[in-house]
Amino acid sequence: MKDILHQLETRRNEARLGGGAHRIEAQHKKGKLTARERIEVLVDEGSFEEFDMFKAHRCAEFGMEQVRYPGDGVVTGWGTINGRMVYVFSQDFTVFGGSLSETHAEKICKIMDMAIKNGAPVIGLNDSGGARIQEGVASLAGYADVFQKNIMASGVVPQISVIMGPCAGGAVYSPAMTDFIYMVKDSSYMFVTGPDVVKTVTNEIVTAEELGGAKTHTSKSSVADGAYDNDMETLAEVRRLFDFLPLNNREKAPVRPFYDSQDRLEKSLDSLVPENPNLPYDMKELVRKVADEGDFFETQADFAGNILTGFIRIEGATVGVVANQPLVLAGCLDIDASRKAARFVRFCDAFEIPILTLVDVPGFLPGTSQEYGGVIKHGAKLLFAYGEATVPKVTVITRKAYGGAYDVMASKHLRGDFNYAWPTAQIAVMGAKGAVEILYRSELGDADKIAQRTADYEGRFANPFVAAEKGFIDDVIMPHSTRARVARAFAALRNKKLSNPWKKHDNIPL
Ligand code: HXC
Repeated sequence: MKDILHQLETRRNEARLGGGAHRIEAQHKKGKLTARERIEVLVDEGSFEEFDMFKAHRCAEFGMEQVRYPGDGVVTGWGTINGRMVYVFSQDFTVFGGSLSETHAEKICKIMDMAIKNGAPVIGLNDSGGARIQEGVASLAGYADVFQKNIMASGVVPQISVIMGPCAGGAVYSPAMTDFIYMVKDSSYMFVTGPDVVKTVTNEIVTAEELGGAKTHTSKSSVADGAYDNDMETLAEVRRLFDFLPLNNREKAPVRPFYDSQDRLEKSLDSLVPENPNLPYDMKELVRKVADEGDFFETQADFAGNILTGFIRIEGATVGVVANQPLVLAGCLDIDASRKAARFVRFCDAFEIPILTLVDVPGFLPGTSQEYGGVIKHGAKLLFAYGEATVPKVTVITRKAYGGAYDVMASKHLRGDFNYAWPTAQIAVMGAKGAVEILYRSELGDADKIAQRTADYEGRFANPFVAAEKGFIDDVIMPHSTRARVARAFAALRNKKLSNPWKKHDNIPL
């Protein structure tokens, strides 16, 4: 009997070694943790329960029957993060470079099925050379099975991908279909085809870092939502993100204890907007002053800085924030900002996270590059996302809300629930200068007349009251009371019920 018990422990120890001590050492030398060490950092101590530890591949090509590692290059199971359930898979680069075989895919699919059934998020720690070359089409089939699970889980449970090593070929498409992607700086890469193939096909010479490193994907392609310095920091930040999210689409996000007064007044906000309407200010200051304890988890911080997206808590409950940022491109909406915010709004709506929209937008960015790039369709994404969202929507216009961008930014007309404006708000078709130049073209030679016309236009439209008279703005509020008013509004919306007409699915302009 003792022998049998001992055998189990021996087998477990063998599985824990993955591809062997020398490959673990190589992993550590690259500054990377192993698959199991990463799970230990990610989940609560002692909470991880592993499945399929002894599952091995069935491949008999290329002498593979001689090399079988228990677990087959991926550690799967479930644990908790601050007491809340999560399913995890962690690819083991020490076993065939973390490449995906038929059985490796089966293990991932198994926990994804359980996650969907039991209503808990999935976090994938990716470190993989892509399809297991020796298995051929069986590994491609395995990828497709994982993709299909990603699609079925989308909008049902949150899915987070962490890229912690090379991710090539099929290895990038599963993360691409999840809700958030985080990368580790200098040790993680994502590309469909690596630098060698790029050189062969296009003659371009590019490094792995330039092609698919963290900087590329957080600031250029926007494939990734953020990147951190090392494995430990990345996993700690993913834990922080996890705490903002609900477990599934049937539950609300957790309400945490908070140590901040909901009616805190912020006198400094009364002077946040500069006298000169052409001067910028930092919208993040307002976000932080509205948030419980000033805590803002920003997403896509290095991409499309003209719009801010991320999570805060108000009275302990998660709120998604979308805010124009006057510090970048004067807060204009452009292709990148529209795409970034639209995806964020849709995530919030899918998981019942209320949305706070802070508006200071001079309009859509004009120009050929925007038009040729399809700003019409991309801008429509954000419009569509706000219009279809049924979650509580609270909007505060701090300054400019011009033209189509006024409509887009969670206006009353797109079923905004509480639409507030600061006294400094200007809600109009366009700014005074542009309007006067169109309306009084024949008088453009007469500077005095134009100055008078501009002053008249400003007097009439550079305020929130025309919109308030029409009921498009529910109230004009003092900047210092913003947190208190927003908190009251969300509290009043806790039991909001709104549903859209039945449809198979919508046809958002992709
Ligand atoms: C089998 C693989 C593998 C793979 C790596 N290994 N990738 N084994 N299938 N796809 C093995 C290596 O043989 C090696 O084994 C170990 O993993 C570590 O690999 P190294 O090359 O030594 O490591 P490194 O120098 O760090 O380079 C890592 C890498 C490179 C960048 C990932 O290995 C690489 O380019 N691999 C191939 C990537 C690729 O083209 N994948 C197929 C994509 S096509 P030993 O025994 O020496 O430790 C695809 C199609 C799916 O994925 C499409 C679905 C839509």
